[in-house]
Amino acid sequence: MFETDKDVLDWYERQPRALSKDYVNSIKWDDIKDHPLNPAFFPVLLYMRDIEYYTDMYYRELLRTPTGRDPVIRKFMDRWSTEELHHADLLNRFLNEAGYPTEEKWQTQVIRSIPATYKVQTYLLNIAVKPWVAIEDFAVAAGEINQAILEIFRDARIVIPFPKREVRMVAAA
Ligand SMILES: [Fe+2]
Repeated sequence: MFETDKDVLDWYERQPRALSKDYVNSIKWDDIKDHPLNPAFFPVLLYMRDIEYYTDMYYRELLRTPTGRDPVIRKFMDRWSTEELHHADLLNRFLNEAGYPTEEKWQTQVIRSIPATYKVQTYLLNIAVKPWVAIEDFAVAAGEINQAILEIFRDARIVIPFPKREVRMVAAA
């Protein structure tokens, strides 16, 4: 019985990974081609793959909410943001094994398909402006351009948070 959020988190952290490397390697990937898939499923699987891959974007959005700032939920979300990308990879591999080739860099295509306004709003896009002016004018020009960008964004109700970078230490494979 769980009494607190932390109890749930501790239990969750103790569970072995369901999609461990050994488990994934034990899947008979070569057998998939022997069981023809109705082509009507291909767009469905592509959609599911992309939805999984977009998790990082959902994760970034959730981090901006009170829910995302809860330390226990945040910990779940950290796991979630990496595991779902793994699911996307597995779905892509399944598609390939089933005879549906995908681009080598399909992840880039998936991200490119997101509308630009949405990328800006969810911080997937980095904006850097470097004015090409005489050295003595650089600071003033950069300031004016940044001010203009901020005003345009403010008018469009686009909010840019403080720059943030996370460093995660992972065990060597
Ligand atoms: Fe998933």
